[in-house]
Amino acid sequence: MLEGKTIVLGVSGGIAAYRALELTSVLKKRGAAVKVIMTKSAAEFVSPLSFRTLSQNPVALDMFAETDCWEVEHISLAKAADVFAVVPATANIIGKIANGIADDMLSTVAMATRAPMVIAPAMNTGMFENEAVQKNIETLRSRGAEIVMPASGRLACGDVGRGRLEDVDVIADAIAGASCKKDMKGIRMLVTAGATREAIDPVRYITNHSSGKMGYALAAAARHRGAEVTLVSGITNLTPPYGVETITAVSALDMYDASMKSAENADIIISAAAVADFRPIETAENKIKKDGRTSIEIELTENPDIISEIRKKYPNKFVAGFCMETENLIENAKNKLEKKGLDLIAANSLREEGAGFGTDTNRVTVLTGGGDSVPAVGSKYEVANAILDVCTANLKKQ
Ligand code: PMT
Repeated sequence: MLEGKTIVLGVSGGIAAYRALELTSVLKKRGAAVKVIMTKSAAEFVSPLSFRTLSQNPVALDMFAETDCWEVEHISLAKAADVFAVVPATANIIGKIANGIADDMLSTVAMATRAPMVIAPAMNTGMFENEAVQKNIETLRSRGAEIVMPASGRLACGDVGRGRLEDVDVIADAIAGASCKKDMKGIRMLVTAGATREAIDPVRYITNHSSGKMGYALAAAARHRGAEVTLVSGITNLTPPYGVETITAVSALDMYDASMKSAENADIIISAAAVADFRPIETAENKIKKDGRTSIEIELTENPDIISEIRKKYPNKFVAGFCMETENLIENAKNKLEKKGLDLIAANSLREEGAGFGTDTNRVTVLTGGGDSVPAVGSKYEVANAILDVCTANLKKQ
């Protein structure tokens, strides 16, 4: 997600400073170069050496330190940033950046940079709710900074309330989003993801192997590119992408209801979910007992075809689906594209290595109603971006 990007990470002095170490690792794992700037108070909480080791870069701390490099350090850091992030951001650094105060390395780089800014506040609830802090946060937001609001919970000081630094993966996701071109700004998108569960009784259900990864990657990539995204998801183990409205739908009927409702406000609808074609006609009220039987019959009835119903109801929207097959992939995909009246279908085969259920990668052939055929291979995030490229190009043509 962050391959080739430089993140300048400002760390200010709060107890959550240690979590910026984990963030540094996550950003590195996602392919970014990380350059850390610490305030002097941050260095009281965590050693600069830890950041230097994890980022594999020198840590900037002192405005007037003698360096080997001839460049003016705060200006070169400001220019190097694809994203400038402050994690954790204390009330003090938020106040300085909002009010144009530049009196140390971190606040000076903040003033000089033109990179998109991500600010993740963390502090005591009383401080966070203070009117001045809220006003400063609003000022930064109005200037285009992405504010990753703190979570609620038990704080280091013992108080319970809002102020805990948000999850590091969520912050990394916000940073990835800030680093992207916003070519989908103004587009509203609905994505469905994951498997549905069709209840047999209160204990058992029929499902499939979809993990939700493909749909979540589409939702994250579209949001990173500036789209307003709603994700209707079966039950998964995944963290909802940052900034995406996520609605959980357990069964195919739940997914049908949520999708039909959300489709009304969407320009593009992509159905990546693996929806059960059938459900038990009846769900037993109590656990079905074996009662000495060696076999039982469960009668199934057809579920609504969600994507076909969306197409029928909204003939002018851009509607895309996936096709998962074990044989005759392209032939079946073309049939589904036509039968369901789709604008695009992404065909993937369970028989190909690195494709399909549960994997972090996928191999798809993107077929359009206009007869285009575009292959896409890579991480599910890369494949998602390739599919979105085709969607946006064809949306413009419509
Ligand atoms: O979730 P992952 O582990 O990352 O795996 C990704 C994936 C393999 C699930 C994904 O890439 C994928 O192929 N999703 C569609 C799987 C599927 O159900 O394909 P299908 O050929 O049965 O359905 C065709 C299309 O109709 C799909 O867009 C499907 O969402 C839609 N459909 C199907 C049945 C139904 N009742 N309603 C639907 O809307």
